[in-house]
Amino acid sequence: MPWDKELEAAREAARLAGETALKFRQRGFAVEVKPDASPVTDADKECERVITRFLAETFPDDGVLGEEGARKESRSGRRWIVDPIDGTRDFSRGSRLWAILIGLETDAGVTTGVAAFPELGETFWAIHGGGAFRNDEPIRVSSVSGIEQAVVCSNGLNQLLDRPGHAECLSRFWAVRCLGGAPDAMLVASGKAEVWIEPTAKPWDLAPLKVIAEEAGARFFNYDGGASIHGGNCIVCVPALEDELRRFVSAAFPPVR
Ligand code: IPD
Ligand code: CA
Ligand code: CA
Repeated sequence: MPWDKELEAAREAARLAGETALKFRQRGFAVEVKPDASPVTDADKECERVITRFLAETFPDDGVLGEEGARKESRSGRRWIVDPIDGTRDFSRGSRLWAILIGLETDAGVTTGVAAFPELGETFWAIHGGGAFRNDEPIRVSSVSGIEQAVVCSNGLNQLLDRPGHAECLSRFWAVRCLGGAPDAMLVASGKAEVWIEPTAKPWDLAPLKVIAEEAGARFFNYDGGASIHGGNCIVCVPALEDELRRFVSAAFPPVR
């Protein structure tokens, strides 16, 4: 299957980075604050080195875009987008809800994605056109079709509640969960929640999650109606709730003019 070799490499890079992060967890790590006020640890930086070194050895012509500064121009027209530890706040506080995110971006969008949760023993992955999996089991979105029976995961709730209509929208759902971007997205992809609202995101926060969620049957769109990992935000939802969620975001997040 196309992208098999890339998937295998991304899974191996995530496995190596997971081992690295767990060693830091045992021996301790320093935490710094970045200019955007978010934390970064020695583990984030070393995991990014481990992932990008492995991918560069395997695919020397591919480019790289890593959250912690890894940059390499592409000679192949493709590039790897890497978030070495997504959920650094969780990692640094001892929560297990952090992930290693690796996606391969091509002219046709993200074709291959891996989201590994080393402390949960779960790796989600997908190839465009090949379905989505947790470890080696296929996953699928739920068949819940009514908002009153649906679970919404709203990351960055602290940024959202003063937006028009937001509290009212959330109050219509059966339950609200806020575990962090990658865990929220994978709950939707594996049929345990129906909507993920992500108000602020960089490409590395979204690259593998988009292809995994879409291959599991979810819809992915930006607040402005686009469908890009470069859109700065996103909604992921089951198809039955797509129209309602599109109406909600266009009212709650009108385009800034
Ligand atoms: C963060 C996580 C978190 C989200 C933040 C992101 P990081 O990524 O995805 O869930 O709320 O907006 O910055 O910095 O831990 O890789
Ligand atoms: Ca992130
Ligand atoms: Ca990160």
